[in-house]
Amino acid sequence: MKGIVLAGGSGTRLHPATLSINKQLLPVYDKPMIYYPVSVLMLAGIREILIISSPEHLDNYKRLFGTGEQFGLTFSYALQPRPEGLAQAFVIGRDFVGDDDVALILGDNLFFGAGMGDLLERARGRKEGATVFAYHVDNPQAYGVVSLDKTGRATRIVEKPTKPDSTWAVTGLYFYDNQVLDIAADVKPSARGELEITSVNEAYLQRGQLHVERMSRGYAWLDTGTHDSLLEASEFVRTLQNRQGLQVACLEEIAYLQGFINRAQLIARGEMFAKTNYGQNLLRLARESEDELRLR
Ligand code: DAU
Repeated sequence: MKGIVLAGGSGTRLHPATLSINKQLLPVYDKPMIYYPVSVLMLAGIREILIISSPEHLDNYKRLFGTGEQFGLTFSYALQPRPEGLAQAFVIGRDFVGDDDVALILGDNLFFGAGMGDLLERARGRKEGATVFAYHVDNPQAYGVVSLDKTGRATRIVEKPTKPDSTWAVTGLYFYDNQVLDIAADVKPSARGELEITSVNEAYLQRGQLHVERMSRGYAWLDTGTHDSLLEASEFVRTLQNRQGLQVACLEEIAYLQGFINRAQLIARGEMFAKTNYGQNLLRLARESEDELRLR
């Protein structure tokens, strides 16, 4: 399975902070925002990742991640000339995806929760159709919204409804089989002029192939759209990390625990960042025994 991180857009709601830097590179506490969605793809076991961003910012991602070998990954990069909609990721990424299945995650979506690995594994394991993740919110009109029947099956999916008939928002993480390439190629621009990911999901719903996983109580799906929500996300990560002494979205740690990199590579990265808690955490991890690691 391949993975795509969509990290373009104009970030106008965060001006002037995003006048010269793209939103998904802003820090959330101690690391760039995009680390968080990349960590989700890695937890799903995905190792080939395409980063899509705008012409002004793509080079910054190349500087940040390079080939991806430091995480045992392979990164590719592609331009989105204008932010014309999330579904465009599959038009731009068509060759990258090839004959494979693909997961898409938005570069500004932060997820946190025990059991995330199992949830992702279930989505990845499905041979056919699409999987989206629904999250209970108190302002559904700001999102794609999915209505569910008694058994949890999707009955309707609508982008930013003015009068939502459900409180389940569709998060910015999507798993698709290879049909998505042709479905996305057929999507027409919406009233707001965008190729909507909700139109892609609706096509799967009509085929009876839209699966919905609910992220229940205890999961955090954090917003980073405004200065306040960005600061709240940083505070959330700081609280967790300082209390537990464990890192959230530490890419080298995930790579090591997933077996993508070895101990020597982990130590090399730890030494590179030795002046920070991030680096110290990597060095501590390298000293831990197999038994300790299993308990993490
Ligand atoms: O966050 C989840 C929501 O994301 C879903 O519930 C909605 O169904 C989905 O349409 C989307 O809604 P938003 O209105 O939040 O999308 P927005 O236009 O803000 O774009 C989300 C991120 O993707 C943002 O950081 C910018 C980036 N982006 C957006 C577009 C339209 C791109 O990189 N390229 C694009 O063409």
